[in-house]
Amino acid sequence: MDSDTRRNRMCGQKNYSLVVLALCLLQHYLHVSVTFVNATSEVHIVYLGEKKYDDPALTKKFHHKMLTTLLGSKEDAYRSIIYSYNYGFSGFAARLTQSQAEEIAEFPEVVQVIPNRVHKLHTTRSWDFIGIHKYSSDNLLTKSMGKGTIIGVIDSGVWPESESFNDDAMGPIPSHWKGICQQGEFFNSTNCNKKIIGARWFRKGAKNQFQNLNKTNNVDFLSPRDGIGHGTHTASTAAGYFVKNANYRGLASGLARGGAPLAHLAIYKACWAFEGCTDADLLKAFDKAIHDGVDIISLSVGNEIPLFSYVDQRDSIAIGSFHAMTKGITVVCSAGNDGPISQTIVNTAPWLITVAATTIDRAFPTAITLGNNQTLWGQSIDVGKYNPEFASITYSERIAIDPTDDSAKDCQPGSLNATLASGKIVLCFSKSDQQDIESAATTVKDVGGVGLIFAQFRDDGLSSCDIPCISVDYEVGTQILSYIRRARHSIAKLSDPKTTVGKWVSPRVASFSARGPSSMTPEVLKPDIAAPGVDIIAAFRPLDTEHRSGYALLSGTSMACPHVAGIAALIKSAHPNWSPAAIKSALVTTASQTGTDGTSISAEGLTRKEADPFDMGGGHVDPNKAIDPGLIFDTSTKDYIQFLCSLGYTNASITRLTKNTINCLTKGHGMNFNLPSITIPNLKRATTVSRTVTNVGQINSKYTVLVQAPSGIKMTVEPQSLSFNITSQILSFKVTFFSTERVNGGYKFGSLTWTDGEHIVRSPVAIRVIGFESYVYV
Ligand SMILES: *[C@@H]1O[C@H](CO)[C@@H](O)[C@H](O)[C@H]1NC(C)=O
Ligand SMILES: *[C@@H]1O[C@H](CO)[C@@H](O)[C@H](O)[C@H]1NC(C)=O
Ligand SMILES: *[C@@H]1O[C@H](CO)[C@@H](O)[C@H](O)[C@H]1NC(C)=O
Ligand SMILES: *[C@@H]1O[C@H](CO)[C@@H](O)[C@H](O)[C@H]1NC(C)=O
Ligand SMILES: *[C@@H]1O[C@H](CO)[C@@H](O)[C@H](O)[C@H]1NC(C)=O
Ligand SMILES: *[C@@H]1O[C@H](CO)[C@@H](O)[C@H](O)[C@H]1NC(C)=O
Ligand SMILES: *[C@@H]1O[C@H](CO)[C@@H](O)[C@H](O)[C@H]1NC(C)=O
Repeated sequence: MDSDTRRNRMCGQKNYSLVVLALCLLQHYLHVSVTFVNATSEVHIVYLGEKKYDDPALTKKFHHKMLTTLLGSKEDAYRSIIYSYNYGFSGFAARLTQSQAEEIAEFPEVVQVIPNRVHKLHTTRSWDFIGIHKYSSDNLLTKSMGKGTIIGVIDSGVWPESESFNDDAMGPIPSHWKGICQQGEFFNSTNCNKKIIGARWFRKGAKNQFQNLNKTNNVDFLSPRDGIGHGTHTASTAAGYFVKNANYRGLASGLARGGAPLAHLAIYKACWAFEGCTDADLLKAFDKAIHDGVDIISLSVGNEIPLFSYVDQRDSIAIGSFHAMTKGITVVCSAGNDGPISQTIVNTAPWLITVAATTIDRAFPTAITLGNNQTLWGQSIDVGKYNPEFASITYSERIAIDPTDDSAKDCQPGSLNATLASGKIVLCFSKSDQQDIESAATTVKDVGGVGLIFAQFRDDGLSSCDIPCISVDYEVGTQILSYIRRARHSIAKLSDPKTTVGKWVSPRVASFSARGPSSMTPEVLKPDIAAPGVDIIAAFRPLDTEHRSGYALLSGTSMACPHVAGIAALIKSAHPNWSPAAIKSALVTTASQTGTDGTSISAEGLTRKEADPFDMGGGHVDPNKAIDPGLIFDTSTKDYIQFLCSLGYTNASITRLTKNTINCLTKGHGMNFNLPSITIPNLKRATTVSRTVTNVGQINSKYTVLVQAPSGIKMTVEPQSLSFNITSQILSFKVTFFSTERVNGGYKFGSLTWTDGEHIVRSPVAIRVIGFESYVYV
């Protein structure tokens, strides 16, 4: 379409505004060329699917041509375009008005026009949670330590001077690396080394999205340098080198290291202190990471529910990761922090590895000595803030402004009387999710209180507060309350916290960790796996006194994701030819359902319960086993395409996604998709699903099946044993589920395990019976 036709089309509209009418008349009579500038133009991503041309310059030219056709002039096209995506896939980001976006969406080459939304980093409310990660992976470490692999971290940048990024022990930069070390504010090529082999920054999406943002208190750097600390933390968790005596204010002192200490890091900064992470910048980060040659991508970022369909191509993380997957790159994502509520999980595309967060076996006990000399224990990280003297202690309800108002109980803002609270330690009880320890501490501080004891069930990691704050469970809280009620002058003394290891041996799924099933495609089990994400110590930007040590303790699925990215690098290093699906299968089928003491992993929530696959996927990640899984459930791009077909996606749109002509021959059901798990959201009476396993262990091996059927369901496997030999390394089996009850219930869980006596290949199973079609439970 040339510019005249374009203008005519605009001027030919029936319901144009007066402004357009005036401009069209002007143009008609004076024959001047008028550019339609709309102050409300916003960043849109015009996604074109797989690249048409191998030459990125040709792809870019094609983008400019399309945009010129739309806008009427080359100058306008150059002014409007922000990014051309021309390496991993094809598309561009440009400033467009609503009507221009609608118009270009009709162009035949366009798969989808996506508005530039903002995503969040997946830490919890506070940046300053505390602890240390610890899992034994000595066998695995001695094998590879991730040598020769490159982990791309799409996040808030990096603090390159951290000891964690020392490259003394690093091998040479892999020959397949094609990236750069991009300069910027306080960052130049000397900041890259053999550990951080590349760094780039992407800001155009954020800048164009927030043009009118007040920048006075923006502390971020216009470079790959990390102004937030989050990216430094995740990068060092994935691949930081060993650092002795890393600590946060003297606590949690010990060895800090990443999951793959010899893997290289490539930094893609797409998240900004004030603006967050926009789709346009995230997609450019994916585009460049694919070009640069990373092996693994770690992405601790995501949206919230309601989810955007990856099927309709409106989810930028699903799009970027799809193209990465087709090029053999494993993408690991955080599950989100909106747990413990069911169906809150994000990043649910089947080609992603989605990671839930668990607690670790480290604690920071803090002594509370009462006036009767009784000593009770809570947890705190507020080192050096404690006054070693006794002070009066009271219960928040006793000092409420309005005794009839419930809000004093958990120290809601403005609920306490300053005259009564002044100089006292205050005990509060959290009732639910409505209040957290930090804001309770602020309430107490605002009325002159000197300390807070916060009784809560949740155990999501500890916070640093404005005044000394100690977290206790309800039992300890109740003991303290009994003392306060009995004593005439109740007093207490709070001590500095200490560090202990091994107090709690079993990991627990953190309350904040988002839960499955996926609200988009419930037949794909999510999360895939769980990893440490509570009180994790790792490198940080040393910009404030709090973090002068250069280390911080954070909690979130953000922290769990890079653990698995590091472990994926270990697997990739040992098995360079494994597909992303093979790596995921190895992680899921070897994960553990129990702690080191053999007790079941529990899940924190409003009540504590045994963790199920919607809490932790296959289970807690076990790197030593994942490197030698025995069998893998592999999937190819073709299988993913068939899955998209099963979701009712059209031939044409899938064709554009992959460049190859696709014919969705059978609609089928997505349940035969070769995942390492089986989830059936709507079992009517009986269903049979098939799976195919590839032997990656000893050539001649015989596996037999063990079935743990979900309650109320009969589960049979055919055949019952699989014999692999030199000519048959890939074998299939069928599983039939038969509901013995015809009632609508919630999901029931079980497992299907193949074993050759040495390997245990376990697939989690989740089934929901639909006895009659009406309301169903999650
Ligand atoms: C400008 O954009 C607004 C909303 O995006 C739209 O309603 C209006 O029609 C546009 N005006 C022109 C001249 O394109
Ligand atoms: C890079 O930055 C360092 C430290 O800020 C400085 O000493 C060095 O001269 C810079 N190098 C280049 C090539 O600009
Ligand atoms: C920007 O923020 C600062 C401090 O928050 C304020 O003093 C200043 O007036 C603001 N500027 C504008 C243009 O809003
Ligand atoms: C608490 O212990 C101290 C010293 O050990 C002692 O002097 C004091 O009498 C004890 N108080 C009570 C209430 O037992
Ligand atoms: C706080 O308590 C004091 C002492 O009991 C009382 O005089 C005062 O009115 C209370 N203030 C408020 C705001 O309720
Ligand atoms: C996809 O292509 C196949 C084979 O050409 C055809 O049978 C089918 O109807 C097509 N499906 C859709 C949704 O267009
Ligand atoms: C391998 O196993 C397949 C079927 O499991 C069998 O048909 C074939 O004969 C076996 N080949 C050898 C070399 O044992």
